[in-house]
Amino acid sequence: MSTTSFQQLSNQLEALKVQANNDIARASDISTIEKLRVSLMGKKGQLSIILKNMSKLPEEERPWIGQLANLLKQEVNSLIVKRISAMKSEIMKDKIIRETLDVTLPSIGILSGHRHPLVKTTEDIVDIFCGLGYRVVEGPEIETDYYNFTALNIPKHHPARDMQDTFYLSENYLLRTHTSPVQIRHLEKNPPPTRIIAPGRVYRRDGVDATHSPVFHQVEVLAIDEGLDFSHLRGTVMTFLKQFFGDLPVRFRASYFPFTEPSAEVDVQWQDRWLEVMGCGMVDPAVLEGLGLDPKRWSGFAAGLGVERFCMVRSSIDDIRRLYTSDIRFLEQF
Ligand code: DAH
Repeated sequence: MSTTSFQQLSNQLEALKVQANNDIARASDISTIEKLRVSLMGKKGQLSIILKNMSKLPEEERPWIGQLANLLKQEVNSLIVKRISAMKSEIMKDKIIRETLDVTLPSIGILSGHRHPLVKTTEDIVDIFCGLGYRVVEGPEIETDYYNFTALNIPKHHPARDMQDTFYLSENYLLRTHTSPVQIRHLEKNPPPTRIIAPGRVYRRDGVDATHSPVFHQVEVLAIDEGLDFSHLRGTVMTFLKQFFGDLPVRFRASYFPFTEPSAEVDVQWQDRWLEVMGCGMVDPAVLEGLGLDPKRWSGFAAGLGVERFCMVRSSIDDIRRLYTSDIRFLEQF
Protein backbone atom coordinates (compact mmCIF):
# COMPACT_ATOMS: atom_id res chain seq x y z
CA MET A 1 0.00 0.00 0.00
CA SER A 2 1.17 3.50 -0.80
CA THR A 3 2.22 5.70 2.11
CA THR A 4 2.29 8.83 -0.10
CA SER A 5 -0.37 11.34 0.72
CA PHE A 6 -1.38 14.67 -0.76
CA GLN A 7 -0.06 16.37 2.34
CA GLN A 8 3.31 14.71 2.06
CA LEU A 9 3.76 15.74 -1.56
CA SER A 10 2.74 19.31 -1.00
CA ASN A 11 5.10 19.47 1.99
CA GLN A 12 7.91 18.17 -0.18
CA LEU A 13 7.10 20.78 -2.83
CA GLU A 14 7.08 23.49 -0.22
CA ALA A 15 10.43 22.29 1.16
CA LEU A 16 11.86 22.25 -2.36
CA LYS A 17 10.70 25.82 -2.86
CA VAL A 18 12.43 26.98 0.32
CA GLN A 19 15.59 25.12 -0.65
CA ALA A 20 15.50 26.55 -4.21
CA ASN A 21 15.09 30.06 -2.82
CA ASN A 22 18.10 29.62 -0.54
CA ASP A 23 20.32 27.95 -3.15
CA ILE A 24 19.58 30.56 -5.82
CA ALA A 25 20.17 33.38 -3.37
CA ARG A 26 23.50 31.89 -2.35
CA ALA A 27 24.79 31.06 -5.84
CA SER A 28 27.74 33.25 -6.67
CA ASP A 29 27.90 32.94 -10.45
CA ILE A 30 25.84 32.21 -13.53
CA SER A 31 27.20 28.74 -14.15
CA THR A 32 26.25 27.67 -10.59
CA ILE A 33 22.72 28.90 -11.24
CA GLU A 34 22.53 26.95 -14.49
CA LYS A 35 23.56 23.81 -12.62
CA LEU A 36 20.91 24.54 -9.99
CA ARG A 37 18.25 24.86 -12.69
CA VAL A 38 19.10 21.36 -13.90
CA SER A 39 19.28 19.79 -10.46
CA LEU A 40 15.98 21.38 -9.39
CA MET A 41 13.85 21.16 -12.50
CA GLY A 42 15.71 19.03 -15.01
CA LYS A 43 14.38 15.66 -16.24
CA LYS A 44 16.11 13.82 -13.43
CA GLY A 45 15.93 16.78 -11.05
CA GLN A 46 14.43 17.00 -7.59
CA LEU A 47 11.01 18.15 -8.81
CA SER A 48 10.69 15.17 -11.18
CA ILE A 49 11.60 12.80 -8.35
CA ILE A 50 8.87 14.26 -6.15
CA LEU A 51 6.30 14.13 -8.94
CA LYS A 52 7.01 10.47 -9.63
CA ASN A 53 4.99 9.72 -6.50
CA MET A 54 2.00 11.58 -7.89
CA SER A 55 0.70 8.37 -9.49
CA LYS A 56 0.24 6.95 -6.05
CA LEU A 57 -2.33 9.60 -5.19
CA PRO A 58 -6.02 9.23 -5.77
CA GLU A 59 -6.82 10.51 -9.24
CA GLU A 60 -8.81 13.56 -8.10
CA GLU A 61 -5.91 14.85 -6.00
CA ARG A 62 -3.36 14.73 -8.77
CA PRO A 63 -4.39 17.96 -10.57
CA TRP A 64 -3.86 19.89 -7.34
CA ILE A 65 -0.36 18.64 -6.96
CA GLY A 66 0.18 19.33 -10.68
CA GLN A 67 -0.91 22.89 -10.15
CA LEU A 68 1.34 23.32 -7.12
CA ALA A 69 4.26 21.93 -9.13
CA ASN A 70 3.58 24.36 -11.99
CA LEU A 71 3.45 27.30 -9.62
CA LEU A 72 6.70 26.15 -8.07
CA LYS A 73 8.30 25.87 -11.51
CA GLN A 74 7.18 29.36 -12.49
CA GLU A 75 8.41 30.83 -9.25
CA VAL A 76 11.80 29.14 -9.40
CA ASN A 77 12.18 30.09 -13.07
CA SER A 78 11.46 33.74 -12.47
CA LEU A 79 13.85 33.74 -9.50
CA ILE A 80 16.56 32.31 -11.73
CA VAL A 81 15.92 34.84 -14.49
CA LYS A 82 16.05 37.73 -12.03
CA ARG A 83 19.20 36.47 -10.34
CA ILE A 84 20.98 35.94 -13.66
CA SER A 85 20.09 39.36 -14.96
CA ALA A 86 21.25 40.93 -11.67
CA MET A 87 24.54 39.07 -12.04
CA LYS A 88 24.97 40.16 -15.65
CA SER A 89 24.48 43.77 -14.76
CA GLU A 90 27.02 43.38 -11.90
CA ILE A 91 29.50 41.93 -14.38
CA MET A 92 28.87 44.78 -16.82
CA LYS A 93 29.30 47.40 -14.09
CA ASP A 94 32.57 45.80 -13.09
CA LYS A 95 33.77 45.72 -16.67
CA ILE A 96 32.88 49.36 -17.22
CA ILE A 97 34.82 50.36 -14.11
CA ARG A 98 37.82 48.20 -15.03
CA GLU A 99 37.96 49.25 -18.67
CA THR A 100 37.47 52.92 -18.16
CA LEU A 101 39.62 54.97 -20.51
CA ASP A 102 41.02 58.29 -19.48
CA VAL A 103 40.84 60.01 -22.85
CA THR A 104 42.75 62.97 -21.46
CA LEU A 105 45.95 60.91 -20.94
CA PRO A 106 48.78 61.67 -23.41
CA SER A 107 49.16 59.06 -26.16
CA ILE A 108 51.89 56.42 -25.83
CA GLY A 109 52.67 56.76 -29.52
CA ILE A 110 52.84 54.02 -32.13
CA LEU A 111 55.93 51.83 -32.06
CA SER A 112 57.17 51.21 -35.57
CA GLY A 113 60.27 49.63 -37.04
CA HIS A 114 62.68 51.50 -39.26
CA ARG A 115 65.45 50.87 -41.73
CA HIS A 116 68.73 49.45 -40.46
CA PRO A 117 71.40 52.20 -40.37
CA LEU A 118 73.42 50.40 -43.09
CA VAL A 119 70.41 50.20 -45.39
CA LYS A 120 69.63 53.85 -44.69
CA THR A 121 73.23 54.82 -45.47
CA THR A 122 73.18 52.88 -48.75
CA GLU A 123 69.88 54.50 -49.71
CA ASP A 124 71.23 57.95 -48.96
CA ILE A 125 74.36 57.33 -51.06
CA VAL A 126 72.20 56.01 -53.90
CA ASP A 127 69.86 59.01 -53.65
CA ILE A 128 72.69 61.50 -53.99
CA PHE A 129 74.19 59.77 -57.03
CA CYS A 130 70.77 59.41 -58.64
CA GLY A 131 70.46 63.16 -58.21
CA LEU A 132 73.70 63.48 -60.19
CA GLY A 133 72.27 61.41 -63.05
CA TYR A 134 73.51 57.94 -62.13
CA ARG A 135 71.32 54.85 -62.28
CA VAL A 136 71.43 51.76 -60.08
CA VAL A 137 72.55 48.36 -61.37
CA GLU A 138 73.35 45.16 -59.52
CA GLY A 139 75.60 42.16 -59.94
CA PRO A 140 75.87 38.68 -58.42
CA GLU A 141 77.56 38.02 -55.08
CA ILE A 142 78.95 34.74 -56.41
CA GLU A 143 81.43 35.78 -59.07
CA THR A 144 83.86 34.16 -61.41
CA ASP A 145 87.58 34.72 -61.21
CA TYR A 146 87.30 36.52 -64.56
CA TYR A 147 84.91 39.28 -63.48
CA ASN A 148 86.30 39.71 -59.98
CA PHE A 149 89.97 39.79 -61.03
CA THR A 150 91.09 39.16 -64.62
CA ALA A 151 88.82 41.65 -66.39
CA LEU A 152 89.80 44.25 -63.78
CA ASN A 153 93.43 43.96 -64.75
CA ILE A 154 94.31 42.08 -61.58
CA PRO A 155 97.05 39.70 -62.69
CA LYS A 156 97.38 36.07 -61.63
CA HIS A 157 100.04 36.67 -59.00
CA HIS A 158 98.38 39.71 -57.41
CA PRO A 159 98.05 39.40 -53.60
CA ALA A 160 94.32 40.22 -53.80
CA ARG A 161 93.83 36.80 -55.36
CA ASP A 162 95.41 35.11 -52.39
CA MET A 163 93.43 32.43 -50.62
CA GLN A 164 94.10 34.51 -47.51
CA ASP A 165 91.88 37.30 -48.79
CA THR A 166 89.27 35.61 -50.95
CA PHE A 167 86.55 33.08 -50.18
CA TYR A 168 86.92 30.65 -53.08
CA LEU A 169 83.94 28.38 -53.75
CA SER A 170 85.84 26.40 -56.37
CA GLU A 171 88.79 27.07 -58.62
CA ASN A 172 86.75 29.43 -60.74
CA TYR A 173 83.95 30.65 -58.44
CA LEU A 174 84.31 32.91 -55.45
CA LEU A 175 82.39 35.35 -53.25
CA ARG A 176 83.04 38.75 -54.81
CA THR A 177 85.65 40.70 -52.87
CA HIS A 178 84.40 44.03 -54.18
CA THR A 179 81.59 45.52 -56.30
CA SER A 180 84.00 46.44 -59.11
CA PRO A 181 83.10 43.37 -61.25
CA VAL A 182 79.72 45.04 -61.80
CA GLN A 183 81.62 47.65 -63.89
CA ILE A 184 82.64 44.91 -66.32
CA ARG A 185 79.26 43.16 -66.41
CA HIS A 186 77.56 46.49 -67.09
CA LEU A 187 79.97 47.70 -69.79
CA GLU A 188 79.76 44.34 -71.60
CA LYS A 189 76.06 44.92 -72.23
CA ASN A 190 75.78 48.72 -72.15
CA PRO A 191 78.09 50.67 -74.40
CA PRO A 192 79.16 54.13 -73.14
CA PRO A 193 78.36 56.85 -72.40
CA THR A 194 77.17 55.48 -69.08
CA ARG A 195 76.87 56.50 -65.44
CA ILE A 196 75.97 53.82 -62.92
CA ILE A 197 76.24 52.93 -59.27
CA ALA A 198 76.16 49.37 -57.93
CA PRO A 199 75.43 48.86 -54.23
CA GLY A 200 75.95 45.44 -52.67
CA ARG A 201 77.48 43.01 -50.22
CA VAL A 202 81.12 41.93 -50.55
CA TYR A 203 83.20 39.28 -48.79
CA ARG A 204 86.78 39.00 -47.55
CA ARG A 205 88.60 36.59 -45.32
CA ASP A 206 89.09 39.21 -42.63
CA GLY A 207 88.98 38.52 -38.93
CA VAL A 208 86.30 40.37 -37.02
CA ASP A 209 87.34 43.41 -35.02
CA ALA A 210 86.20 46.99 -34.46
CA THR A 211 86.90 47.98 -38.07
CA HIS A 212 86.80 44.67 -40.00
CA SER A 213 84.14 42.18 -40.92
CA PRO A 214 84.22 39.28 -43.42
CA VAL A 215 81.02 40.64 -44.96
CA PHE A 216 80.58 44.31 -45.64
CA HIS A 217 78.98 46.68 -48.12
CA GLN A 218 80.19 48.81 -50.98
CA VAL A 219 78.72 51.13 -53.54
CA GLU A 220 80.54 51.06 -56.87
CA VAL A 221 80.50 54.18 -59.02
CA LEU A 222 81.32 54.23 -62.74
CA ALA A 223 81.16 56.99 -65.34
CA ILE A 224 82.42 56.48 -68.91
CA ASP A 225 82.14 59.17 -71.56
CA GLU A 226 84.18 61.13 -74.03
CA GLY A 227 86.55 63.59 -72.43
CA LEU A 228 86.21 62.65 -68.76
CA ASP A 229 89.31 63.43 -66.69
CA PHE A 230 90.44 63.51 -63.07
CA SER A 231 88.77 66.87 -62.42
CA HIS A 232 85.39 65.25 -63.15
CA LEU A 233 86.20 62.50 -60.69
CA ARG A 234 87.28 64.97 -58.04
CA GLY A 235 84.29 67.25 -58.64
CA THR A 236 81.85 64.34 -58.40
CA VAL A 237 83.41 62.94 -55.23
CA MET A 238 83.55 66.35 -53.52
CA THR A 239 79.95 67.15 -54.47
CA PHE A 240 78.83 63.79 -53.14
CA LEU A 241 80.81 64.06 -49.88
CA LYS A 242 79.52 67.54 -49.23
CA GLN A 243 75.95 66.39 -49.65
CA PHE A 244 76.48 63.34 -47.48
CA PHE A 245 78.61 64.71 -44.64
CA GLY A 246 78.25 68.47 -44.90
CA ASP A 247 81.52 70.29 -44.27
CA LEU A 248 83.84 67.49 -43.17
CA PRO A 249 87.54 67.95 -44.08
CA VAL A 250 88.44 65.71 -47.05
CA ARG A 251 91.76 64.69 -48.58
CA PHE A 252 92.76 62.76 -51.71
CA ARG A 253 95.77 60.47 -51.29
CA ALA A 254 97.62 58.94 -54.25
CA SER A 255 97.20 55.17 -54.24
CA TYR A 256 97.26 52.11 -56.45
CA PHE A 257 94.53 49.89 -57.86
CA PRO A 258 95.17 47.60 -60.84
CA PHE A 259 91.99 48.77 -62.60
CA THR A 260 92.54 52.54 -62.28
CA GLU A 261 95.36 54.85 -63.29
CA PRO A 262 95.91 57.23 -61.65
CA SER A 263 94.33 55.96 -58.43
CA ALA A 264 93.52 57.69 -55.18
CA GLU A 265 92.09 56.99 -51.78
CA VAL A 266 89.78 59.50 -50.15
CA ASP A 267 89.91 60.16 -46.41
CA VAL A 268 87.61 62.24 -44.24
CA GLN A 269 88.61 63.67 -40.91
CA TRP A 270 86.79 61.94 -38.09
CA GLN A 271 87.41 61.91 -34.36
CA ASP A 272 90.81 63.61 -34.81
CA ARG A 273 92.12 61.19 -37.43
CA TRP A 274 91.87 60.56 -41.14
CA LEU A 275 89.61 57.68 -42.12
CA GLU A 276 89.57 56.17 -45.60
CA VAL A 277 86.05 56.04 -47.02
CA MET A 278 86.62 55.15 -50.68
CA GLY A 279 89.07 54.16 -53.40
CA CYS A 280 88.82 55.75 -56.80
CA GLY A 281 90.64 56.59 -60.00
CA MET A 282 90.53 56.95 -63.77
CA VAL A 283 89.53 53.65 -65.39
CA ASP A 284 92.72 51.98 -66.64
CA PRO A 285 92.89 51.92 -70.47
CA ALA A 286 93.73 48.20 -70.22
CA VAL A 287 90.27 47.57 -68.68
CA LEU A 288 88.56 49.50 -71.49
CA GLU A 289 90.56 47.68 -74.15
CA GLY A 290 89.63 44.34 -72.59
CA LEU A 291 86.01 45.31 -73.20
CA GLY A 292 86.67 46.30 -76.81
CA LEU A 293 86.36 50.02 -76.05
CA ASP A 294 88.79 52.45 -77.65
CA PRO A 295 90.64 54.27 -74.80
CA LYS A 296 91.49 57.11 -77.17
CA ARG A 297 87.81 57.86 -77.49
CA TRP A 298 86.39 56.77 -74.13
CA SER A 299 87.64 57.61 -70.68
CA GLY A 300 86.04 57.49 -67.30
CA PHE A 301 86.37 57.27 -63.58
CA ALA A 302 85.33 54.77 -60.96
CA ALA A 303 85.08 54.63 -57.20
CA GLY A 304 84.30 52.08 -54.53
CA LEU A 305 82.67 53.44 -51.38
CA GLY A 306 82.78 51.59 -48.05
CA VAL A 307 79.21 51.83 -46.77
CA GLU A 308 80.10 50.82 -43.20
CA ARG A 309 82.62 53.67 -43.00
CA PHE A 310 80.07 56.23 -44.16
CA CYS A 311 77.58 54.90 -41.66
CA MET A 312 80.07 54.90 -38.78
CA VAL A 313 81.31 58.42 -39.45
CA ARG A 314 77.85 59.88 -39.87
CA SER A 315 76.41 58.24 -36.78
CA SER A 316 79.58 58.25 -34.63
CA ILE A 317 79.67 54.46 -34.28
CA ASP A 318 83.14 53.36 -33.24
CA ASP A 319 82.75 49.58 -33.58
CA ILE A 320 81.60 47.97 -36.84
CA ARG A 321 80.35 44.90 -34.94
CA ARG A 322 77.50 46.92 -33.50
CA LEU A 323 76.05 47.13 -37.00
CA TYR A 324 75.70 43.36 -37.27
CA THR A 325 74.60 42.20 -33.84
CA SER A 326 70.92 43.20 -34.17
CA ASP A 327 70.83 44.62 -30.66
CA ILE A 328 67.58 46.54 -30.61
CA ARG A 329 68.80 48.84 -27.83
CA PHE A 330 71.58 49.98 -30.16
CA LEU A 331 69.54 50.07 -33.39
CA GLU A 332 66.69 52.01 -31.81
CA GLN A 333 68.92 55.05 -31.58
CA PHE A 334 68.99 55.61 -35.32
N1 DAH B 1 87.40 47.74 -55.50
C1 DAH B 1 88.26 48.45 -54.56
C2 DAH B 1 88.29 47.74 -53.25
O1 DAH B 1 87.38 47.05 -52.94
C3 DAH B 1 87.79 49.86 -54.36
C4 DAH B 1 87.89 50.67 -55.59
C5 DAH B 1 89.04 51.42 -55.83
C6 DAH B 1 86.87 50.69 -56.49
C7 DAH B 1 89.16 52.19 -56.96
C8 DAH B 1 86.98 51.46 -57.64
C9 DAH B 1 88.14 52.23 -57.86
O2 DAH B 1 86.01 51.52 -58.56
O3 DAH B 1 88.22 52.97 -58.95
O4 DAH B 1 89.23 47.90 -52.51
